[in-house]
Amino acid sequence: MSQSVPLNTFDTVLSRLDTDSLKWDKYKGQDILPFWVADMDFAMAQPIQDALKQRLEHPIQGYTLTPDALPGAIKAFLSNEYNWDIDPEWLVWIPGVVCGLSASCRAFAKPGDHIVVNPPIYHHFFDSHESSQTIDRLPLRCGNDHRWTWNLTALEERLQQGGVSLLLLCSPHNPTGTVFTQQEVQSLMKLADAYDVTVVSDEIHCDLVINPKATHYPTAVAAPEFNERTVTLMSGSKTWNLAGLNCSFAIIPDAEKRDAYKNALHSTVPAVPPLAFAATEAAYTQGGPWRESLLTYLWQNYEHIVQRFADVAEITVHPLDATYLAWIDANNLNVENPQVFFESFGVGLSDGDQFGQPGFVRLNFACPRATLEEGLNRMMTAVESLRVQ
Ligand SMILES: Cc1ncc(COP(=O)(O)O)c(C=O)c1O
Repeated sequence: MSQSVPLNTFDTVLSRLDTDSLKWDKYKGQDILPFWVADMDFAMAQPIQDALKQRLEHPIQGYTLTPDALPGAIKAFLSNEYNWDIDPEWLVWIPGVVCGLSASCRAFAKPGDHIVVNPPIYHHFFDSHESSQTIDRLPLRCGNDHRWTWNLTALEERLQQGGVSLLLLCSPHNPTGTVFTQQEVQSLMKLADAYDVTVVSDEIHCDLVINPKATHYPTAVAAPEFNERTVTLMSGSKTWNLAGLNCSFAIIPDAEKRDAYKNALHSTVPAVPPLAFAATEAAYTQGGPWRESLLTYLWQNYEHIVQRFADVAEITVHPLDATYLAWIDANNLNVENPQVFFESFGVGLSDGDQFGQPGFVRLNFACPRATLEEGLNRMMTAVESLRVQ
């Protein structure tokens, strides 16, 4: 396949010192490489950098309306990628997906209601609800092949008991990397419909399907007959590395739900900043070639991790179709806390406990291969240190 952005673009090691990077400054002054929070150590695509510079040529950054061309650009992108024909009216712009989750809890669940989430899951799913609401944790199940998916039997049993008005999905799934099949999404949506539950689908990782064999079906596409009960949250922030720029969107086909959502945002959530709009428009309209190369690079990084750990009995790298976050079972190390253990060898991972799964770690491999290699070498040294004891 011809790549108009060369793969070695992503080999460039950029220092993020003196940028107040959350990821790197956690270990400032220590010899610990960060592979935790989900942002990438890659420069933004050139068209995005250019769009930001161009917007800065105007010296005012005031309150800003959605650029005229942006809804059409999102519509075209979704049609092209997912065969999803949206009405631009359905779009609600938000400065982040996490605040989009909490607005969902305010809009679609009443005080006293229960909200179902499926751990292990991105930690904000545990705390996006109102204090008058309850989060019910219904764990994913992990097959013998180490693929994680919903436990629909447990879900139905829970829904039968009543009290659940909202399901918060993460699809593709962080931290397990699962891309759910069309059949899985359809079955889940049938249950949601049978028990009159609204489904909010966080699809922030949807454009990061790195396994060439996998296909992502947005919830609203997999089960279009239940469109009216879905709210989809998307963003270019993960795919194009714009997390600090605060631009995301909700897609809400049902007009009543859309109004409820806008009300929930009112007075609590700030508007999207002009630079964020500029970057997002450039990403969705001109970021295609960069993204195509990125997906290849990330898949090669993931395959490299799998290969490095293939003969290491203490570590099991779970299969992954999307995201740049490897989900690793480190229970066989028999250490008290694998995250703390690897940190002491200079590798800063995310603790599985944060997502509801102690004994696991999550490794963010969106970095140049050389950085990844150094991290993997340190992890090997850590594992070997246990063997020689
Ligand atoms: C599933 C999921 N949702 C939301 C976010 C964060 O979204 P935002 O930065 O737009 O609030 C992340 C970041 O890692 C994520 O993995």
